[in-house]
Amino acid sequence: MSQQQKSLSAAPESAARTVAPEPLPIWFFVGIILGVYGVLVVIAGLVSGDPDTVLGHTRPALWWGAVLVAVGYLFVAISRPGPDKAEYKGPGRRVQTRPPSFPVATADTPLAVEPDKVWQVLCGDTAHWRAGVYSPELTSADDIEELERHDCPELFLLMDGEVTLLVAEGEKTRQIELEPGKPVLVAAPHSGFCPKGPHTGRAFVVERDSFDTLYQKVSEWTARSKA
Ligand SMILES: [Fe+2]
Repeated sequence: MSQQQKSLSAAPESAARTVAPEPLPIWFFVGIILGVYGVLVVIAGLVSGDPDTVLGHTRPALWWGAVLVAVGYLFVAISRPGPDKAEYKGPGRRVQTRPPSFPVATADTPLAVEPDKVWQVLCGDTAHWRAGVYSPELTSADDIEELERHDCPELFLLMDGEVTLLVAEGEKTRQIELEPGKPVLVAAPHSGFCPKGPHTGRAFVVERDSFDTLYQKVSEWTARSKA
């Protein structure tokens, strides 16, 4: 049972229960404390000068303060959560999605879906999955300039209206018209459009809460296979 499930089952039946993203790890705060102590020790060493002790002339406060700062920085750097969409270098446009990647959601009650929004993350389970609603603004395959490919599959299920996915398969692209009650698992580079007009269709989407995405132009995806 996950930490979240434990907290859910421990909540009183009458209380409004929420599913929240994973909090910051304790090591993040340990790193901050070590860094603050390190800075204070360095300042104390500078102010007090050489202590009248054996090897006092080596300024131990400065060295040990610096060590504390370095260790604190290491703790913070390792344990801090990655930004939801931090770009890094490489071919195409790469985006990382990392926890916390979904909002706090109230359990056991309908979730609010905002109108006319291309992508809204609804909820999730940290280190496992997140779910959202996808409602493209584009209205034809010709409007799509970029396709995205994740390092994990993504499940689409039509909620209402019409949504068509455009996927790259080898040197060509293919359109997948989503049908109600027929989920589609997508692993290929993809994007989507609403043929009846902007936001006239909505699809329910399930994906991991931590994954990488590569965005490239449609022609770049299909040209890859020719090379
Ligand atoms: Fe996607």
